[in-house]
Amino acid sequence: MYRFPFPAFPNGWFRVAFSDELPPKAIKTLHYFGKDLVLFRTEDGKPHVFDAHCPHLGAHLGFGGRVEGNNLRCPFHGWCFDSHGQCVEVPYATTKVTPKTKMQSWHTREVNGTIMIYHHLQGEAPTWEIPEMPEYSSPDWLVLKRTCWKMRSHPQELAENGLDIAHMPYVHEQAMLEINSQAVEIEGIKLIHRMYPKYQMYFGTKKLGAKVDCSHDIVYYGLGHLSNYVRVQKKIDIGLVIVFFPTPIDEEYIEVHGVFIMKKVWTKTVTKILAIKMIQNFELTINQDIPIWENKIYRHEPILCGGDGSIKQFRHWASQFYSVTLVP
Ligand code: FES
Ligand SMILES: [Fe+2]
Repeated sequence: MYRFPFPAFPNGWFRVAFSDELPPKAIKTLHYFGKDLVLFRTEDGKPHVFDAHCPHLGAHLGFGGRVEGNNLRCPFHGWCFDSHGQCVEVPYATTKVTPKTKMQSWHTREVNGTIMIYHHLQGEAPTWEIPEMPEYSSPDWLVLKRTCWKMRSHPQELAENGLDIAHMPYVHEQAMLEINSQAVEIEGIKLIHRMYPKYQMYFGTKKLGAKVDCSHDIVYYGLGHLSNYVRVQKKIDIGLVIVFFPTPIDEEYIEVHGVFIMKKVWTKTVTKILAIKMIQNFELTINQDIPIWENKIYRHEPILCGGDGSIKQFRHWASQFYSVTLVP
């Protein structure tokens, strides 16, 4: 049974692949938003996403379909579709194909080495974009690792967890010891949660002396793109950005990809050694949350107390991503 008082698939941009997973002319089969999809890169270098099945007799274009120039050809009877999904050729047709003969196409963007699609409950066009992050292209930053999780949850639950400060010292003691202060800023579809926990430093896996003050700026662009900017300023200036991409698979499961980007400290090797434990700790935070997320219920009207942080404010912000209401 569906568990949430809001739709499983919010409006907004959601990751479906990383750029390096899709070479030119490649086709990938996907399953997100409860649908079979096909992702392909045309000769002009652009990625496109269609619903997978042909409007003719229903073949899946991800199994044997071909990219031809900037078009995609169905493997079953050779119907050919342009990058907007419009049928542009039927090799044997003796009658004209109507303009209504289309593959259902999704708004697709490639930004920060990531391919994202726009979901809207009523099929409306995007009204905002995911901005470029300078860390992806800067020689001062290194993309060190990507990790993927699949879990029984909802993108909003993952996002809410970043503001739920009361659970952090309980569940994630290894990463955040005590939260000194926190603040939330909201600008339309963007939310920033700033908090200042204490952090245990490591070099490789070796624990280093005293705990240090660090700052976390968690920046949300909708519910499909969350970046946690972690900064430790001690003798050296350490910067780590973890970008989380929660994407709904269906009404029950989501996939979450994490990308770890670290500011270079002297050399690549030193940076990697410094990052080892930090990355392990952040991976552990997700692994610690998963059994809670998978088995909790969503309290629409929770009993909150002082010290619970900005959960109400977050939920009000998140409600803008549902253009359909399930609970009055
Ligand atoms: S099913 Fe695609 S061309 Fe016939
Ligand atoms: Fe958590």
